[in-house]
Amino acid sequence: MSEERRPLVLVSNRGPVTFGDDGGFKRGTGGLVTALTGLASHREVVWIASALTDGDARKARESDGTSFRIEADDGDFQVRLVESDPEAYDRFYNIFANPMLWFIQHYLWDLSNAPDVRRNEIEAFEFGYNVVNEDLAKAVVEEIEGIDEPVVMVHDYHLYTLPALVRRARPDAFLHHFVHIPWTQPDAWRVLPRGVRREIYEGLLANDIIGFHTRSYRWNFLQCCRDLLDNVEVDFEAGIVRFEDREVWVRAYPLPIDAKAIRRTAQSARVDELERELLRRRREHLVLRVDRADLSKNVLRGFTAFDLFLEQHPEFSERVTFVAQLMPSRTDVPEYAEYLERIEAIVAVVNHRHGTPDWMPIQLKLKDDLEEAVAAYKNYDVLLVNAMFDGMNLVAKEGPMVNERHGVSILSENTGAHEELGEFALSVNPFDIQELADSIHAALTMGPGERARRAEGLQAIITSRDPGDWIDEQIADIRKKAGVEA
Ligand code: F6P
Repeated sequence: MSEERRPLVLVSNRGPVTFGDDGGFKRGTGGLVTALTGLASHREVVWIASALTDGDARKARESDGTSFRIEADDGDFQVRLVESDPEAYDRFYNIFANPMLWFIQHYLWDLSNAPDVRRNEIEAFEFGYNVVNEDLAKAVVEEIEGIDEPVVMVHDYHLYTLPALVRRARPDAFLHHFVHIPWTQPDAWRVLPRGVRREIYEGLLANDIIGFHTRSYRWNFLQCCRDLLDNVEVDFEAGIVRFEDREVWVRAYPLPIDAKAIRRTAQSARVDELERELLRRRREHLVLRVDRADLSKNVLRGFTAFDLFLEQHPEFSERVTFVAQLMPSRTDVPEYAEYLERIEAIVAVVNHRHGTPDWMPIQLKLKDDLEEAVAAYKNYDVLLVNAMFDGMNLVAKEGPMVNERHGVSILSENTGAHEELGEFALSVNPFDIQELADSIHAALTMGPGERARRAEGLQAIITSRDPGDWIDEQIADIRKKAGVEA
């Protein structure tokens, strides 16, 4: 088999671009889009995604269910947008995928605080999640018509039931599914009704390969298959699940960042201008966090720890600023809207408690602006990444890549990035507020030699692989497995 000759089909909920009302487009946001953009601009692929905005829906209708070419700054893409019924999409995105699956896969719900699962949630699965999966599966099947043994790469937690639908229509397709978020242990999954759970796992097991960011998510997935399903055989050593006479390979492929792209951004004129603005207002030390305003990111505990640090080390008063750039996200989900309110409230409390007439300890910026984040990346002394759970966390890689002050990373042991970078960061338990506060102090008082050693160690690991390697590792496994079965 030579999959290079076959056009690759990518499918994800969020696509590479979103269209505005004026017909113009902007780049999609988030780790998944960043990772796949590299692939889509370097290989012949068709990227199928949901229509997310009115502008996307108009584009989907205009293109009449076919793919079209997009010429963007970072490459050209062949894109196909799929419009779903708005009510079904709302159930899919705002009730089932987020919060239900997202919460389960970040331990935001466990058995003690799980929501009541009622008709509303089950219907959101049946008439929301599955409808969007069916719509996208139909587009995939149309796109691979006439191609022998096509390769389809499915992405993330939005599309767990899609592979079974494609498999049914095209038993010869090679289905590769990458999950960008953590895979939690079996008990976390018991929140889901049994029928829904089974459909999700059987949907996923229709793939040939399932990929995760880390070995521990891979391990958790294998454990879940063993404990939650009764018709599978799991080989932990080989990372194989046998289901319905087929073998599913379960693998770990940690996602790297595109170092060249982030360095390019770091040298842009706008970043330069934003940096000058930042430096004008700079105190002696800068602590930084950049995140989506998501419960899994543990933003509140980060501020509580900073509060404690200032209380225990008053000598830092007026000498340090904590810049928190948070991008509002999924604001139609009540839990997220409420979280934003709690963030604003705690910032007000900490600023009131420690601030002085000419010093505001925490600067909260609620915005999505990569260049502004990069300007701050270049100048931080401490980068705080204290997520409760996080699939990978690309901020932990982007920051050290462009930082120019040998800044210290404080990194949660529960991020995927920790498996690679933990050794050179200050590793923290994200629930331990005292440890977080102590780490802020340790980072701010660390000697220059130690800062340099850690910063250089981080950069060496971060640059050791790039997104091209990530794709090549997956393609190599696709080849190997297809060869074995051929
Ligand atoms: O894998 C998680 C992810 O899909 C990332 O790409 C991104 O960080 C985030 O979730 C985006 O979420 P949404 O598409 O809901 O904005």
